[in-house]
Amino acid sequence: MILVTGGTGYIGSHTVVALLDKGYEVVIIDNLSNSEESVLNGIKKITGKTPAFVKGDVKNQQTLDKLFQDYPKINAIIHFAAFKAVGESVEQPLKYYDNNVNGLIQLLKTMESHSVNKIVFSSSCTVYGQPGILPVDETAPVVKPESPYGNTKKINEEILFDAVKSGKGLKAISLRYFNPIGAHPSALIGELPIGVPNNLLPYITQTAIGIRKELKVFGNNYNTPDGTCIRDYININDLANAHVVALEYLFNQNVEYDVFNLGTGKGSSVLEVISAFEKSCNISLNYSFAPPRNGDVEKVWANPAKAKKILNWKAKISLEDTVLSAWEWENHYRKQLKNN
Ligand code: NAD
Ligand code: UD1
Repeated sequence: MILVTGGTGYIGSHTVVALLDKGYEVVIIDNLSNSEESVLNGIKKITGKTPAFVKGDVKNQQTLDKLFQDYPKINAIIHFAAFKAVGESVEQPLKYYDNNVNGLIQLLKTMESHSVNKIVFSSSCTVYGQPGILPVDETAPVVKPESPYGNTKKINEEILFDAVKSGKGLKAISLRYFNPIGAHPSALIGELPIGVPNNLLPYITQTAIGIRKELKVFGNNYNTPDGTCIRDYININDLANAHVVALEYLFNQNVEYDVFNLGTGKGSSVLEVISAFEKSCNISLNYSFAPPRNGDVEKVWANPAKAKKILNWKAKISLEDTVLSAWEWENHYRKQLKNN
């Protein structure tokens, strides 16, 4: 049985679907600080199965102890639970270090006392900052990230590395996500940003549906072909599947600690994403150029060769299909809200 922390969140819910589809039993722990319990209905409709659910905080030792006692079949963990708003982390760094770093430490302590030794951790390409060489591979230097949020990812990777090296049998993988976007093709689960979205895709779909007036494109004078920033946008379902293969790698191979980039290998500029969205969804998007956003790197995209070689995983779904899935989810979700 797999324990998925943060399993009602965006990436967690898609990964739970991928796990259930593959026949794994799943128990989720989530404190619902950034998700809704109704996500479980979407998971059930898609898979025909209901994962076990515990509403609780991964920082709470008693909650975790009880969870491991109640579900003694847990033999591996995928750890998504964290706060992820970059701007908020600059204003409230302690909140981020407390939740993201203490959450992992508490989980590792509990794993040790219940003899569970496998963990897959959600890291981020933010640990590379602005890489000197593109596409960036896992041998690139890890820098101190711009934000406290990003720094919690770097610190947690280091904690995992040290915990593995301490020789108590822990096996861990850090997955460095590039930019996950899109939704499940059923449109029954997707990204639920609370308040005004910071990320590009939710901002685009909310503009297209009329909740936001226009998209501001942050900067058009970067040293890129069209002047806008370049990122590696990866489909959420491709990303979810990577967690299942990473887990299987931990189960089946003699690995102690490893890191993998999860990206497509292709960079897309903000204007290219807008154009893919307009074409796939047959919509004209209202946007204008605005000054660059503080802390943005100019361009970053992955070299995903290591994940292909070692995990036999690669991203398959196109940007066009992915932005369309985000649009279908936005429409489905708004309809649902109206009906409730
Ligand atoms: P999300 O906010 O949708 O999901 C995180 C879930 O964790 C939420 O459901 C939230 O309620 C829960 N949670 C937070 N703190 C908790 C705690 N202490 N105890 C229990 N539950 C808690 O975020 P997401 O986009 O699904 O991201 C999942 C993970 O991937 C996070 O660790 C995030 O930092 C990392 N990540 C995300 C992205 C991205 O672009 N979405 C990129 C790189 C890394
Ligand atoms: C953000 C986080 C990063 C995290 C990553 C993956 C910031 C500063 N960084 O990266 O730590 O690892 O998500 O989740 O938030 N854009 C616009 N207009 C908008 C929104 C975005 O032009 O309204 C542009 C941005 O300038 C950027 C691109 O779109 O060039 C992607 O932005 P975003 O979705 O926020 O992701 P990142 O900045 O790559």
